[in-house]
Amino acid sequence: MKTLIKNGRIITAVDDYIGDILIEDEIITVIGKKLEMEADKIIDAKDRLVIPGGIDAHTHMDMPFGGTTSADDFRTGTLAAAHGGTTTIIDFAIQAKGTSIIGALDTWHEKAAGKTAIDYGFHMIVTDLPQERLKEVKRLINDEGVSSFKMFMAYPGVLLVDDATIFRGMSFAGEHGGLVCMHAENGVVIDEIVQRAIAKGHTAPKYHALTRPTKAEAEGVNRAIALAEMAESPVYIVHLSCYDALKKVKEARDEGVPVFAETCPQYLFLDYSDYEREGFEGAKYVMTPALREKWNQDELWTGIRMNDLQVISTDHCPFCMKEQKELGKDDFSKIPNGAPGVETRMSLVYNGGVVAGRISLNRFVEITSTAPAKIFGLFPRKGTIAVGSDADIVIFNPNKKMTISAQTHHMNVDYNPYEGRQVQGVPETVLSRGKVVIENEKYVGKAGDGKYLKRSTVQLRHREVAAAVH
Ligand code: URP
Ligand code: ZN
Ligand code: ZN
Repeated sequence: MKTLIKNGRIITAVDDYIGDILIEDEIITVIGKKLEMEADKIIDAKDRLVIPGGIDAHTHMDMPFGGTTSADDFRTGTLAAAHGGTTTIIDFAIQAKGTSIIGALDTWHEKAAGKTAIDYGFHMIVTDLPQERLKEVKRLINDEGVSSFKMFMAYPGVLLVDDATIFRGMSFAGEHGGLVCMHAENGVVIDEIVQRAIAKGHTAPKYHALTRPTKAEAEGVNRAIALAEMAESPVYIVHLSCYDALKKVKEARDEGVPVFAETCPQYLFLDYSDYEREGFEGAKYVMTPALREKWNQDELWTGIRMNDLQVISTDHCPFCMKEQKELGKDDFSKIPNGAPGVETRMSLVYNGGVVAGRISLNRFVEITSTAPAKIFGLFPRKGTIAVGSDADIVIFNPNKKMTISAQTHHMNVDYNPYEGRQVQGVPETVLSRGKVVIENEKYVGKAGDGKYLKRSTVQLRHREVAAAVH
């Protein structure tokens, strides 16, 4: 099967030119001007941007959490991702405490196999790591294509691991080319503050934010960096939300420490005032870390521009208001933590970043696709438009406007945190490994189009490639 994309404005992290792209089966084989080859399908991309498919390096599909399960499974969640111009997700498998890490990976493979609309990989959430389990980590990195491991400083009694475990995980992963992704928040202190709030009868959703100070996040980031330095390993801070935490990352990077960090659209476009909405509406925004005071947003954009933040992913973890968020109607600490976002990331970041004049088109591609591909061992197969790369391509209409709404989104959740917001920039046609899965905004793929991606460690092993995103 040959597909020719003609006349598009091809944007990568470094390029910007008008050209044509020939795709043979799953791979880009020729890029040039006015290509005349025969093709089975021709897509006219005149007046459109042609960009690498988005890579969302932080999603939670079908995840048991907070007394329930996230509302999108791998079918609905990846279909929504495709609509939003994302062609790869990296989701989180979870090791149940005291059980096999390999077993957890098998469970997540079962959840995803044959269901997805786009390609996917896994990180592993490690909840305990005695010496005798380290061989499982090695097998994950070397044989199973899972080269990144999330550890939690938050959620005591559920996901939290102690500093010794974090240090052990960082040293071992680092030595074998892996990467620890840190949920950096002092969960022990936060739990103490939460108990005090509840004792005072403070049960409304806004207390979720008021009991999770930015200092608790900054302390976690600081500690994660110190542990990584002692372990002589890189560290990746997930869902960084505020200036206090960013400052710690920036200080370390200025000293040459290999710290990477992501933020998410919710921290760029939503803020604390969302918790003060009428009645129980604030529950829609209960996620961790919490939304911050609005002034933090400008600081995060500066972090993105200065490359102290390399990635924007979503932390997509949707729970419906009905029956799920409602679990915390009388106690904010029982509201399942998380919000939807996999479908809206590309348009929100394009609108709030490029259209608003905060970042260039190249930077837009870099933070939504190229950098996560490099950091998580998918580049150059994913994350760029180049001969030999997978044909994961989005034909993006940079002028079209749309209004975000739960009425029209494809995520399996009964609200949208950005309800009614108008954005400019719409993914119109999306190709996943050469196959059109979204055509003129309509899904035309089938379950199982997406494949599991074994990720490599090569980027982190090669210091100069790490330096490119460093
Ligand atoms: O609120 C959130 N972020 N839920 C998902 C779990 C996590 O910590 O990423
Ligand atoms: Zn987290
Ligand atoms: Zn998460």
